[in-house]
Amino acid sequence: MMTTDSIAKGDGQRLLIKNAAELVTCGGVAPKKGANMNDIGIIVDGALVIENGIIKAVGTTTEILARIDVSTYQVIDAAGKCVMPGFVDSHTHFIFGGYRPEEFFWRLNGTPYLEILERGGGILNTLEATRNIDKQQLKKIGSKRLDAMLAMGVTTVEGKSGYGLDASTELAQLAVMEELNKEHTVDVVPTFMGAHAVPPEYRGRTDDYVDFVIEQVLPAVASQGVAEFCDVFCEQGVFSVVQSRKILLAAQKLGLKSKIHADEIVDLGGAELAGELKATSADHLLQTSDAGIDCLATQGVVATVLPMTAFSLRESYARARTMIDRGVAVALATDYNPGSCFSHSIPLVASLAAIQLRMTPAEIITGLTINGAAAVGRAHTVGSLDCGKQGDVVILEQPSHLFLMYHVGMNIIDKVIKKGQVVIDNSKGKTL
Ligand code: NIG
Ligand code: FE
Repeated sequence: MMTTDSIAKGDGQRLLIKNAAELVTCGGVAPKKGANMNDIGIIVDGALVIENGIIKAVGTTTEILARIDVSTYQVIDAAGKCVMPGFVDSHTHFIFGGYRPEEFFWRLNGTPYLEILERGGGILNTLEATRNIDKQQLKKIGSKRLDAMLAMGVTTVEGKSGYGLDASTELAQLAVMEELNKEHTVDVVPTFMGAHAVPPEYRGRTDDYVDFVIEQVLPAVASQGVAEFCDVFCEQGVFSVVQSRKILLAAQKLGLKSKIHADEIVDLGGAELAGELKATSADHLLQTSDAGIDCLATQGVVATVLPMTAFSLRESYARARTMIDRGVAVALATDYNPGSCFSHSIPLVASLAAIQLRMTPAEIITGLTINGAAAVGRAHTVGSLDCGKQGDVVILEQPSHLFLMYHVGMNIIDKVIKKGQVVIDNSKGKTL
């Protein structure tokens, strides 16, 4: 049994979860690489104690019951259920205005994603809608989207700006995320992505836009303290490796850690750039070469793989199996956005990771928990059921983590617990 020094009595809110068929701990405070992704630390007939929002004890039910006065705890009996850390969705673009349903069908009928962007659609379509929406409305929609994600077990979400591409709208997107982080149950990790596309007013002048981002937008973002990461769409016809490096280095100087949309459509060497810059994560990686994969492994960059995007774009999938076999730490996320992937379904990510990426069930759980936490710089506070971490927990209706992949795309959440409080309870009436 793992415990902190003592399990205090009478000092506030206390929760005991007992009799879990499987307590999947995913323990650790660092990303799990390669074969270690299979280490998810299952405790059979497990129990967990949370006090004042923090995990205080983890062990078998027998061990925990021997240590506490149960009468002073709110008790959840998780018999026949699987208990695991709350999911970390480490790559989303959930703050946006408008919708693009026509483009979904244009793409399926053969028009390439980058051609739609080149014509002024795609990200630039959402840019118009996001610049024009009332900011209170943007927040209200964002809050509803977080509600829906929470209901599927997501307790921490990364969100990117990048649908303003001017100083005021980029800052407004980040401010909305900052407010949501304070007011909503879900924790929101903000990323500045001013280099998501080149806005119409800079069309054909990408270098000038890069200078504008570096000289005018980034300093404001940094001085307002509204972003932890900077991300760049490093892609053919969008931002080159040279331009991406320039932006990410400028951001690093201002204290923003790096993320990169890398090798999504063309292998430009984005993974290698991520390694060179010691980025926290490189994301997408559909076209990354073996050399790029080795670079992620040796430089300790988390590879964030987004299988629903490949699915929605009808593209080939990232080579997650090769990445893990070559020692990379892989995280799995949704890429929830209005264009390339309009879904925040963690269960579908899990199923696609099993079916298409050939990841093992344990690797998938690691990708959605501790490695997702590492991809957003939160591995020390969330992503595992370890003493001292936030009490962010999901309980599945079923007895094993295998059901998350096996129930394809279905929500099998029984309860979600955030900082020790039950925030979602589906336990009445739902048997799948
Ligand atoms: O991660 N590729 C760039 N950005 C997003 C898509 C954004 C959009 O289409 O609106 C992505 O796929
Ligand atoms: Fe993305």
